[in-house]
Amino acid sequence: MIKINEHYLKLQSSYLFSEIAKRISAFQAAHPGRKIIKLGIGDVTRPLPEACIEAFHKAVDEMASMETFRGYGPEQGYAFLREKIAAEDFQARGADIGADEIFISDGAKCDTGNIQEIFDIDITIAIPDPVYPVYLDTNVMAGRTGNYGNGRYDGIVYMELNRENGFVPEPPREKVDLIYLCFPNNPTGAVIKKEQLRAWVDYAAQNKALILYDAAYEAFIRDDSLPRSIYEIEGAREVALEFRSFSKTAGFTGTRCAFAVVPKSCRAFAKNGQEHSLNALWNRRHTTKFNGVSYPVQRAAEAVYSAEGRAQVKGLTDYYMKNAALIGKEMTSLGFECIGGENSPYIWVDAKMDSWAFFDTLLEEAGVVCTPGAGFGKCGEGFIRISAFNHYENVEEAMRRIKNII
Ligand code: MLT
Repeated sequence: MIKINEHYLKLQSSYLFSEIAKRISAFQAAHPGRKIIKLGIGDVTRPLPEACIEAFHKAVDEMASMETFRGYGPEQGYAFLREKIAAEDFQARGADIGADEIFISDGAKCDTGNIQEIFDIDITIAIPDPVYPVYLDTNVMAGRTGNYGNGRYDGIVYMELNRENGFVPEPPREKVDLIYLCFPNNPTGAVIKKEQLRAWVDYAAQNKALILYDAAYEAFIRDDSLPRSIYEIEGAREVALEFRSFSKTAGFTGTRCAFAVVPKSCRAFAKNGQEHSLNALWNRRHTTKFNGVSYPVQRAAEAVYSAEGRAQVKGLTDYYMKNAALIGKEMTSLGFECIGGENSPYIWVDAKMDSWAFFDTLLEEAGVVCTPGAGFGKCGEGFIRISAFNHYENVEEAMRRIKNII
């Protein structure tokens, strides 16, 4: 008899963004003429940078000719892209990362979701609350948690984020093995300072733990004193993996390209105490289960690092940051306490009421979609997240509508 993985039964209803999409569809069906402004899921609205489009076209043309056609590429990604990333995103910032430590993939969601496969089922995991749901749900699916009750899965060490700690977790008192961190943070938009990140790297080194550092929103950092990569912290090469994406940086949500950094100096232990290279393990997993990102997409991603590409990407992120500034200003002027939006495209707003109820009010009365904080965890209750990814005119209109109903 075919049986299911019963850990899936512990998951809470549907994936957050699917639930939101369901509510939007129901609302749209009931109000067909109503224009909805989506500031919910962080999905980009601006076209790809011109430099990426040119490289994309050129690569498609190469695929059309017998002499330049390519079949399967290396699963880890083409050297031309891995070398650019290592040099420009890391070495240029003093971070000692080599091209053979970069693994190109089709998304940071997939990478942060899949990486847990290479770790033992019995490890202790520390997860922030609120949190991007993928980190938690993929560990639930794998069977690394107990049952759910009162907003908590048994067996997880939750790091509660709130005003008191500035929405930045401190290393726990207890010993944990795997730590999920995301900065600039999704969903709160909070950022971490170098000293705070150093405390985490030291904690991981002392406890033989590993940090999974999601830096998908790094391109939105405007304060130069903030770390863009965990590898700017001494010792991080031994205790941290990093995840990055071209999705929000260069408008690749529909094009798909991201990468994981797995340093060769990161080790983990077998039950017999023997050390193993995480780079080798991830390479084994990646080459077995993934066949690489398409050649034209990798050429388009490479163009991000050209002089024109850089300028265009900066233009794109500046555009969304202008939206973020407007959202922060307008929501604050309406009396809501906000964080984020200064080095991040997300604004975390204290709704002063139940977060799904506020979501429904904004949808039904203003035709504006946000993301209810409760969908990111128990500590997200009472908050909403507003995303800056939309056209500026739509953001202006959304703010006008919210003003009218408050
Ligand atoms: C979000 O809105 O949190 C993100 O767009 C989700 C994602 O990147 O998967």
